[in-house]
Amino acid sequence: MLKVDKKSDIKLIISNWKIEGARIGFVPTMGALHNGHISLVKKALTECDKVVVSVFVNPTQFNDKNDLTNYPRTLERDLELLEACGCNLVFTPSVEEMYPEPDTRIFNFAPLDEPMEGAHRPGHFNGVGQVVSKLFDIVEPHAAYFGEKDFQQLAIIKKLVRDFNYNITIVPCAIVREEDGLAMSSRNMLLTAEQRKLAPGISKALFSAVEKASSMNVAETKQYVENQINAIDGFEVVYFEIVDDIQLQSVNDWSEPSVKFGCVAVKVGPIRLIDNIRFNQ
Ligand code: PAJ
Repeated sequence: MLKVDKKSDIKLIISNWKIEGARIGFVPTMGALHNGHISLVKKALTECDKVVVSVFVNPTQFNDKNDLTNYPRTLERDLELLEACGCNLVFTPSVEEMYPEPDTRIFNFAPLDEPMEGAHRPGHFNGVGQVVSKLFDIVEPHAAYFGEKDFQQLAIIKKLVRDFNYNITIVPCAIVREEDGLAMSSRNMLLTAEQRKLAPGISKALFSAVEKASSMNVAETKQYVENQINAIDGFEVVYFEIVDDIQLQSVNDWSEPSVKFGCVAVKVGPIRLIDNIRFNQ
């Protein structure tokens, strides 16, 4: 596995691979890797000849400075995991390498960036747009792999590709969960043992809402999920929205002809966890 931290180096390696006719797959990450990330890499390896993973904690997408400071950084272990699963190239740029000067670009992802994470984390998706567009310009992959865990981010990346005519296939990848149902997240390692024990209550509420949805309307389903999660000691729902999967607008009635996802953000002390589930209504 190759590891580089300079744009010029990675561009050279990838352009040589392309001359050999290789299909390039790309998995952008912020490190602190777990099996959710690794599932993206494995999927890319089945579809591409060379797989590139970036590990970069992007400061411009953190609206909360403490969150940025506390974000877990486990580079050595990340490299071991990536090597073990067959990744070909890891890109680990510094902040200066990615942002030699401040990025003043403003992205408009409306209406996709308005609800949910967009409403509660001002500037977050602009930062995601900044870093992902830079990474796409550097790596120029044929395909890029994103997790459905970050449902709204995935919709926004697809829009970025459409708006800027990137010739990149965006491949959505299913949420990987722990055995107890908790969606894998780099932030899970910040939970105390007690919080970690209670955290599967989030996905349990989502799963049981899907089961009960045929006997509840949308408003009742929303209330049900909020009540279930808020009843967990120390857990507080930031939002729970049921939205369509195209425009991410709130669904008011199950009869609306859209694919519907329930998306939740939960505060556990200073830590923020997100999860989502597809409704069959
Ligand atoms: P990060 O949170 O490290 O996630 C990197 C990728 O892994 C994202 O596409 C995310 O959706 C996916 N992922 C995380 N947990 C997952 C899980 N449990 N199951 C499946 N996929 C999962 O998302 C980011 O980084 C950043 O915003 C980034 C796109 C790298 C831009 O900085």
